[in-house]
Amino acid sequence: MNPYIAAAVAEMDKVNVSRLEHPGSWAMDPASCRFVAAFARALEARRVMEFGSGFSTLMLAREIEPHEDNYLLSVDDSPRYSALAKEAMETSACQAKVEFRVAPLRPRLYGPRLLLSYALPKGLVGAMGPFDLALIDAPHDSWNPEAVLYDVFPALDLGGYALIDDANAPGRAATMTAWRAAFGEAADFIHLEGIGNGLLAIEKLSDDGPQYPFKGALSASAKTIADFARTFSGDRE
Ligand SMILES: C[S@@+](CC[C@H](N)C(=O)[O-])C[C@H]1O[C@@H](n2cnc3c(N)ncnc32)[C@H](O)[C@@H]1O
Repeated sequence: MNPYIAAAVAEMDKVNVSRLEHPGSWAMDPASCRFVAAFARALEARRVMEFGSGFSTLMLAREIEPHEDNYLLSVDDSPRYSALAKEAMETSACQAKVEFRVAPLRPRLYGPRLLLSYALPKGLVGAMGPFDLALIDAPHDSWNPEAVLYDVFPALDLGGYALIDDANAPGRAATMTAWRAAFGEAADFIHLEGIGNGLLAIEKLSDDGPQYPFKGALSASAKTIADFARTFSGDRE
């Protein structure tokens, strides 16, 4: 078994996710929170990025805090929830360096695949990396996070990891198939089905790829259009 995953599984029950602090069902499942924190600790992660600001921001910030030059870049498409996460950080005792960014979700072509991507300033993710760890937990478990991994992968350190929450959610199997096809030998995928609503750990093994697959491009693109329409429906605030 992967040593960092083994260490995190062994230690995750010791991570305190206070019922008073855990905000509710929209946030990562408490077991997933525990694993993510224990995994960041096992990795000794110092530079971290996350997509989906909220309770996980505080969990990650607390893990990187003991390390010098720590940095967490937290991205969300919602100005309201980004501001709430920022306020929670500022009123906590945690001294980690956390930067919040709001970036709207926009359709973008990745080869033949039209996917929803966070419209961050060009080059920002690369400039702030390399990252030891990226957590992808947004915008919602029913939305396709495929592009987010394509965007962050080049900024991961070799041997760095991406963690995807809600890996058991409907539709995620198709996303995982696309990622495996796109990255081939450049990444190792470990699906932890028994933690929360499933977590997918992806280790970066080389800088190769992604090679965006044609297979599934039509259905992924149709889903992007449907998800993008939801950004105007008040589903995202
Ligand atoms: C699956 S949630 C996870 C957010 C974060 N990773 C966490 O675990 O707390 C995804 C979205 O919830 C939204 N969100 C954040 N704070 C929220 C709140 N207080 N109430 C409802 N939604 C919230 C954010 O816009 C975020 O993109």
